[in-house]
Order: sequence, then structure tokens, then C-alpha cells
Amino acid sequence: MRLQRVLDQDRAELRFQLDGETLTARAGDTLLTAILAADAGWLRNSEFGDGKRAGFCLMGACQDCWVTVEGQGRRRACGTLVVADMQVRRR
Ligand code: FES
Repeated sequence: MRLQRVLDQDRAELRFQLDGETLTARAGDTLLTAILAADAGWLRNSEFGDGKRAGFCLMGACQDCWVTVEGQGRRRACGTLVVADMQVRRR
């Protein structure tokens, strides 16, 4: 878990799938927020070593958070809101 929720704990809970695993998000979360707040905690493998990448800018500028959303294609996780039952794949 790279992010910990401290506010807005009462927003509606949504479920979505990441690589076939069911995760929980809060209404209004971006995919990046939901993934980093879950134990999943990463988005892709680094091209330069054995580390995991988890986004960088969090505002749509760095291209470090691409995921694939079923029916939508490649999306930036930091700029895509979670929708219930969304199916997401990491690279
Ligand atoms: S984290 Fe930089 S574009 Fe999404």
C-alpha cells in the first residue's frame, strides 16, 4: 500500500478488477489512487531494473501510469475515474 486514506472514508465503495483480482475503490477515486491505496501498489515493471513503477506526476504529464481498460483501450490511471466492475490490466 503506497497511499493511505485519511479523508473521505464515507464515499461509496466500488469494486473493480485489476489483472483478474477484485479490488475496492471509493467513488471519485482515479484508478491510480485506487491501485496505490490497495495492496496491488504498482502499475508496471521498470524497463531499467527489477523495480516496480507506480506513476510519477499523478497529473497526466509523465506517461508513467498507462493501463488497459476493457472497452476503452490504453488509459492513464491518474486521469481515469474508477467505475464499478471496470476491468483493468497492467502491462
Ligand atoms: S502518473 Fe504521470 S501521467 Fe499518470
